[in-house]
Amino acid sequence: MVVTVRPLRDDEMRLYLQIHERAIRGLAATHYSQDDIEGWVVPTTDENLRRLTLNADREIRFVAVLDGVPVGIGALVLENAELRAVYVAPEGARRGCGSALVHAIEQTARDNEVTRLTLDASLNAEPFYAVLGYDVLERTEVPLPNHHPMAVVRMGKDLQRFPHAGRRR
Ligand SMILES: CC(C)(COP(=O)(O)OP(=O)(O)OC[C@H]1O[C@@H](n2cnc3c(N)ncnc32)[C@H](O)[C@@H]1OP(=O)(O)O)[C@@H](O)C(=O)NCCC(=O)NCCS
Repeated sequence: MVVTVRPLRDDEMRLYLQIHERAIRGLAATHYSQDDIEGWVVPTTDENLRRLTLNADREIRFVAVLDGVPVGIGALVLENAELRAVYVAPEGARRGCGSALVHAIEQTARDNEVTRLTLDASLNAEPFYAVLGYDVLERTEVPLPNHHPMAVVRMGKDLQRFPHAGRRR
């Protein structure tokens, strides 16, 4: 199995939302209610595709490709030193795609002189980020677009202290 990570192309916004939705529905329902899931998913509508294309937060976005098939997406917001997103569709899970996305995000952060990243991890993703060297900062809630509060774990990592934490495949 070969995992590669490349930048998301402008014509892949639909793919981005589809992977996002499939990852949430397929892998996060163990830790969240149906209300949480519905508030977290971003439906693939024209309006959401337009907003994603607009990219108001200047996200730097990536795609993880497993044996030639795109199965994961990730995003970084340099201005906030924020690891914004890592999502892997169920058929690509536990094959190193999420880790490869985090490594690409961290490398891009380092390349831009960002030395620490924070993120809001979903409860199901806490062990994943912990393996990659992220520490728990706070257990909190964030409001979803439907105003439903979602429990998350704020986590952070000093990129210079742990340049090689986690596994590479
Ligand atoms: C979290 C997520 C991105 C992990 O992606 P992945 O490609 O499966 O991760 P990897 O294969 O790189 O996992 C690396 C290691 O992290 C740990 N890990 C990953 N998922 C885990 C889980 N669900 N439970 C416990 N540990 C996990 C394991 O140690 C794993 O190594 P192993 O498979 O040899 O045991 C994926 O499960 C996902 O998309 N979840 C739903 C969406 C989500 O919650 N995204 C995060 C938003 S903050």
